[in-house]
Amino acid sequence: MNKTILITGGAGFIGSHVVRLFVNSYPEYRIVNLDALTYAGNLENLTDIQDAPNYIFEKADITDAAHITRLFEQYKFDGVIHLAAESHVDRSIIDPNAFIMTNVMGTANLLNAARTLWKDNMDGKRFYHVSTDEVYGSLGEEGFFLETTPYDPQSPYSASKAASDHLVRAYGNTYHLPFVLTNCSNNYGPNHFPEKLIPLFINNIVNKKPLPVYGDGKYTRDWLYVIDHARAIDMVFHKGRNGETYNIGGFNEWQNIALVKLLCEKMDAKLGRNPGESAELITYIKDRPGHDRRYAIDANKINKELGWYPSVTFEEGLSKTIDWYMDNQEWLDHVTSGDYKKYYETQYTHR
Ligand code: NAD
Ligand code: DAU
Repeated sequence: MNKTILITGGAGFIGSHVVRLFVNSYPEYRIVNLDALTYAGNLENLTDIQDAPNYIFEKADITDAAHITRLFEQYKFDGVIHLAAESHVDRSIIDPNAFIMTNVMGTANLLNAARTLWKDNMDGKRFYHVSTDEVYGSLGEEGFFLETTPYDPQSPYSASKAASDHLVRAYGNTYHLPFVLTNCSNNYGPNHFPEKLIPLFINNIVNKKPLPVYGDGKYTRDWLYVIDHARAIDMVFHKGRNGETYNIGGFNEWQNIALVKLLCEKMDAKLGRNPGESAELITYIKDRPGHDRRYAIDANKINKELGWYPSVTFEEGLSKTIDWYMDNQEWLDHVTSGDYKKYYETQYTHR
């Protein structure tokens, strides 16, 4: 094996798809998946590759600087793809500190460890920071987020991600740490934790539970199938220019209420229910505090420079996602026990 690559957050939603892609596509790389296994981390996402000869799992918390330093000394990583984060906006409103610790301090610990390990020779090294379009704030009805759009984060989650992005660029500028950074729009697909809109609503439709739409439901997101995000990460890691930022998006904007109605329609058909039956579950509830109105990505830079474009249409991706959840009830049962139950009660009772 000619390279050792650290992937953080590889037991989570997007991370597990990135780990699988790298383990399968690059047998010549040793892939180390580092994850603290928080409520969002689930090794059941990776059972198909867990015995691959080029795969290693390390349970570690990125806020533990001493442990992170030891792992960098032990494995002498050539590259880092950093996805580990607290990722759910609603949880950041309930408990911002966990986001500041993991997203800001955790990223700083990884940057310090990489800088120390690579200080004498940075050739061929790369720190890839995976970030979000939410750092740009909220759009009105017109326009798109470009790589040059000024940062204007509005939630504790997006502020913590913005802080981590600034740190990565500052280490690039100050210490010449080789880095690339991407800001991506909303992902959906298999293994998505059912606290986020699409998997939560699929689960609630199956169980005939209310579908809690925040505010007037006219908030807009740009949806991308998770495997297309993983493909983009592969391309940027291997071909992206050092020190550059690339926006990644689905060219696929939906108002929440239109998306929820489409989901209800598709699920009625798949579940053999009468047309319109699941839409009756739609319940408007109190808005998310500080809710960003619209996100939309201009992904032309990655398209022109690296030739990346989404390969899966929304129609196709949504159908595959629904099928995956309906075929993986056991996965759902396992993740919806424990911590998630408590969170669901706090978040949705009395609203
Ligand atoms: P997720 O919440 O599903 O997974 C996060 C993973 O990080 C989990 O496996 C968790 O155990 C791990 N983790 C959390 N805290 C940790 C810590 N202190 N130490 C080690 N591991 C820890 O998140 P996701 O949706 O897969 O997002 C992954 C990354 O992509 C995040 O950085 C997120 O900001 C970014 N992102 C997500 C989206 C999206 O739509 N989900 C879009 C753009 C960018
Ligand atoms: O844009 C990228 C971001 O997308 C990522 O950085 C985040 O990690 C990821 O969680 C996601 O953030 P959002 O806040 O956009 O995703 P969420 O699925 O929580 O919400 C999508 C939209 O649906 C948003 O407008 C809020 C709304 N919503 C969400 C939930 C959970 C509801 O109306 N009801 C709900 O119950």
